[in-house]
Amino acid sequence: MKITHYFILILLCWSCSSESGDADTIATDDSPMTVTNPLLDFTVPSNFPDATYSIIQNPPTEKGFELGKKLFYDGQLASDGVVSCGFCHIQSFAFTHHTHITSHGVDGQIGTRNAQPLHNLAFMNEFTWDGAATFLDTQPIIPITAEVEMNETVSNVIAKLNADDDYPTLFAEAFGSEGVSADRMFKALSQFMVMMVSANSKYDKLERGEAVTFTDEENAGRAVFDTKCASCHAGTLQTDQSYRNNGLPVDPEFNDIGRERVTGLPSDNRKFKVPSLRNIEITFPYMHDGRLGTLEDVLDFYTDGMEDSPTLDDQFRRPDGTLGLDITPEEKVQLIAFLKTLTDNDFIEDRRFAEF
Ligand code: HEC
Ligand code: HEC
Repeated sequence: MKITHYFILILLCWSCSSESGDADTIATDDSPMTVTNPLLDFTVPSNFPDATYSIIQNPPTEKGFELGKKLFYDGQLASDGVVSCGFCHIQSFAFTHHTHITSHGVDGQIGTRNAQPLHNLAFMNEFTWDGAATFLDTQPIIPITAEVEMNETVSNVIAKLNADDDYPTLFAEAFGSEGVSADRMFKALSQFMVMMVSANSKYDKLERGEAVTFTDEENAGRAVFDTKCASCHAGTLQTDQSYRNNGLPVDPEFNDIGRERVTGLPSDNRKFKVPSLRNIEITFPYMHDGRLGTLEDVLDFYTDGMEDSPTLDDQFRRPDGTLGLDITPEEKVQLIAFLKTLTDNDFIEDRRFAEF
């Protein structure tokens, strides 16, 4: 899908037009303002599935994207004025957070989950580790209101933005009429986030038949991945978007029940969304609570670290009754070489998404 037409918005200056109600009396400084706000080019990479996000209903525009970016990096969305979305979602780590295993919010409060990367969100059906958010536009309500994250209310945020020197104008420019609202704030954040398409790793280039080649080790790793991992980490996004229990021992401190929290079903106990493995080299630490520090740790866990429970995925039950996948030490090295082909440096260095 490619959207390339441009449109021009003519805005009447709201402050004077609402006061005077008569365009003829508008002084030069308050003359009608012409704002060009081109639609941005949202293109689905040729090796990707169709977008799940309805671009038609909230098409990213230049001004909407810039507004979304400003909001994303603005501490005013949090009660302490400091913890912005970008505080936990750092571009150089594919929008994850590194210094803390689980995320760390207002007043240094520690959450129970590891911040997820933000990339290719336009292609996901549900959001967060347990799928609590089913629509990207409403997802940010969770971090804004969570006590351990931004600890704020949406109405307070809107009041702060209304009182701000810049936001009323930026909202009007982005949406073509006066008004700072929660709906528009979420739309702008989504316009910023759906543009975060990561599709230029070595793996992508190979899939698209561009001039790259895999080393023997990377090719061998890909073959191991296809037989042992791709049943869940499926397709070009490496996720079938299902919820599974991959055998992580329950952490008694957090006792995170996973998907059961959303559905209430005991059959969903300890299940978490199968994560995409794009940019996995730089999104450590791993798993929903960040308990594993390296890819080596992850593979050692898959061979030797699982704990049994009624919802454990059957793929991890060996015929002899033990748990885990069979991966030789040599195959582990090959797998890691393959996983590193999923790193997209163009994405993490893309100035469009950078705070400064
Ligand atoms: C205190 C750290 C923190 C802050 C601040 C924060 N996030 Fe997050 N974010 C997280 C964590 C942790 C998760 C995983 C949540 C879960 O699974 O329950 C997450 C998940 C997400 C997801 C889901 C990604 C996916 O693949 O499903 C999106 C989208 C997101 N955050 C966007 C935002 C936006 C937008 C803001 C600002 C309004 C924000 N976050 C602020 C830590 C944070
Ligand atoms: C039965 C489905 C299934 C199979 C097979 C599987 N995984 Fe996973 N994987 C998951 C789930 C579910 C998670 C998230 C678990 C959690 O955090 O609670 C996960 C998490 C991961 C993570 C951490 C991702 C992150 O963002 O923190 C990595 C890395 C990973 N898997 C790699 C692999 C590799 C490599 C293989 C093959 C050797 C594999 N997985 C096989 C389901 C699976």
